[in-house]
Amino acid sequence: MRKKIVAGNWKMNKTIAEGLQLVDEILAGSNDDSVLKIIAPPFIHLAAVADKLKSKEGFEVAAQNCHQAAGGAFTGEVSAEMIASTGTNYVIIGHSERRTYFGETNQLLAQKVAMALANNLIPIFCLGESMEDRNANVHLETVKQQLKEGLFSLLPADFSKVIIAYEPVWAIGTGVTATTHQAQGMHNFIRSEINKKYGKDISENTIILYGGSCNAENAKELFACLDVDGGLVGGASLKANEFLAIVNSF
Ligand code: PGA
Repeated sequence: MRKKIVAGNWKMNKTIAEGLQLVDEILAGSNDDSVLKIIAPPFIHLAAVADKLKSKEGFEVAAQNCHQAAGGAFTGEVSAEMIASTGTNYVIIGHSERRTYFGETNQLLAQKVAMALANNLIPIFCLGESMEDRNANVHLETVKQQLKEGLFSLLPADFSKVIIAYEPVWAIGTGVTATTHQAQGMHNFIRSEINKKYGKDISENTIILYGGSCNAENAKELFACLDVDGGLVGGASLKANEFLAIVNSF
């Protein structure tokens, strides 16, 4: 049985006071321990949020990125080891905003994944096609390449720790969600590629989240798809009631 997960990616939103208040509101309204709730605040809030959620059943914390190097002269960057030292256990890697605005390539992301795993962080690896890819009917090819170059160099034991988030770029922050047909189709494709590379056991146990304008209205039908194990949520994770409504959508 794969774990059900809803992860809230706050992106570059919330002051520390606002963030801690949001966490308090989520904690107060949360009543379902069968769903793992992952909160991904900005780096600067990680220690405080991790501290607050430390002994809370069903909650984890994620960073939104990490650097590929172990440490050193990289002004302004944050290492996987530093993230782990805050009590954070997860890290989002390869979000489309990182790929688009910060030029992160599959090759670079493979290094980040390796560094995260070396520091016992669980990577939430994001992938997904652009609208141009989908219109040109090369979306499967794009995602296959992202999987191959970003993750498929991992040994099976390491790959089996990774969570995947399918986030079609055209659905992120646009209000346009993938249809259940599109989401299930791609999740199933991803699982079949994992099956080819790592075998049935690992493919059936890999958690694959959907992201892209996921909200309280559409989460239920998306989460009902056979190969959709939950969501990576941006905008709708910034309000406790919306986030919790998504959590309650399984
Ligand atoms: P969105 O963002 O829910 O605001 O579309 C999702 C994401 O970027 O992870």
